[in-house]
Amino acid sequence: MKILVTGGAGYIGSHTVVSLLENGYEAVVADNLVNSSVKSIERVEKITGRKVKFYKADTLDREAMKHILDTENVDACIHFAGLKAVGESVQKPWEYYENNIQGTLILVDELRKHNVKNFIFSSSATVYGDPEFIPITEQCPKKACTNPYGWTKSMLEQILTDIQKADPEWNVILLRYFNPIGAHKSGLIGEDPNGIPNNLMPYITQVAVGKLKELGVFGNDYDTVDGTGVRDYIHVVDLADGHVKALDKIKEKCGLKIYNLGTGNGVSVLQLVKAFEGSTGQKVPYSIKPRRAGDIATCYASADLAEKELGWKAKYGIKEMCEDSWRWQSMNPNGYED
Ligand code: NAD
Ligand code: WQD
Repeated sequence: MKILVTGGAGYIGSHTVVSLLENGYEAVVADNLVNSSVKSIERVEKITGRKVKFYKADTLDREAMKHILDTENVDACIHFAGLKAVGESVQKPWEYYENNIQGTLILVDELRKHNVKNFIFSSSATVYGDPEFIPITEQCPKKACTNPYGWTKSMLEQILTDIQKADPEWNVILLRYFNPIGAHKSGLIGEDPNGIPNNLMPYITQVAVGKLKELGVFGNDYDTVDGTGVRDYIHVVDLADGHVKALDKIKEKCGLKIYNLGTGNGVSVLQLVKAFEGSTGQKVPYSIKPRRAGDIATCYASADLAEKELGWKAKYGIKEMCEDSWRWQSMNPNGYED
């Protein structure tokens, strides 16, 4: 099977392309490189010894999407392409709605015109808002999002659900990711944020490598084990494998499905810092800062449904996530830049 991977040069996309190739799929990547480098694709080819067809293309560019689908006989699409910086989305809501929603509408329209109706969508635990209950099952009600980025995911879930309902030939899987960290074991691909990282693990690794002075811990007065925020960190390679399992489900003509991709374990900010120090031997100086607007105390998944229906379960623990994030950062202190 040949899979169109939009956003395949990005962090999760590049790891998923490795998993696809290792599982016998062909991958065609479409990415406008707004938040990534084509070097990630070269590294994927190095890891796998396989060729990846790459198109520098924007999902907003209908002609480009049409050209790719006219040229490549794809069987399914895994759609990662999107803007994902929560804070930036508050400053630039129009840009986020246009890029994420309009880009998806154009892509889906061209897919259906080419009779490609198998679609896996990168959603997020952010659609649960401040979750009604913990651990979060897929039955947990969706809630108001705290930022436009989150709304693009929530709205796109609804749009894709309605499209599948109106035309049951579609097989649509909404994957709600929890907090991906880690990197491929080779240290050749990983997360390469622009500027100062917003997310915890890239911030920790940049402190450890000496690019940033100290970590600010956003609040230590939450109702959690040590007062700091608790999240469900998942190794990006496990997350990537979840997409391969989702493709197996698509082959069963599954209709609409929704799965959490998380580990089911909650880890606090300070627990992650300690685990990182313990597994890498690097010190991470930190100080306690005020809470960050929009943050919630606790968010972790019930991963039971994905295990039951996809036969997928996260294999890696926090120690490997820390070791692998550090290997990537220390081998590539400036990410994909020379
Ligand atoms: P990323 O920024 O590394 O990857 C996204 C890729 O999409 C980038 O390579 C970017 O250049 C590309 N892109 C953006 N807009 C595009 C457009 N209009 N046309 C073509 N390419 C475009 O981010 P990631 O962490 O790999 O996330 C992948 C997907 O998973 C995103 O949709 C993101 O919202 C979602 N997600 C990420 C997380 C996370 O914590 N990383 C959590 C939940 C969901
Ligand atoms: C984790 C914890 C912070 C940075 C975000 C998006 C979510 C999803 C994943 C895409 C929190 C604390 C962080 C720092 C800190 N993305 N923290 N100091 O907020 O759970 O989720 O990424 O869909 O939509 O919101 O992840 O890594 O930013 O934060 O103390 O410098 O680390 O307060 O408790 P978050 P994160």
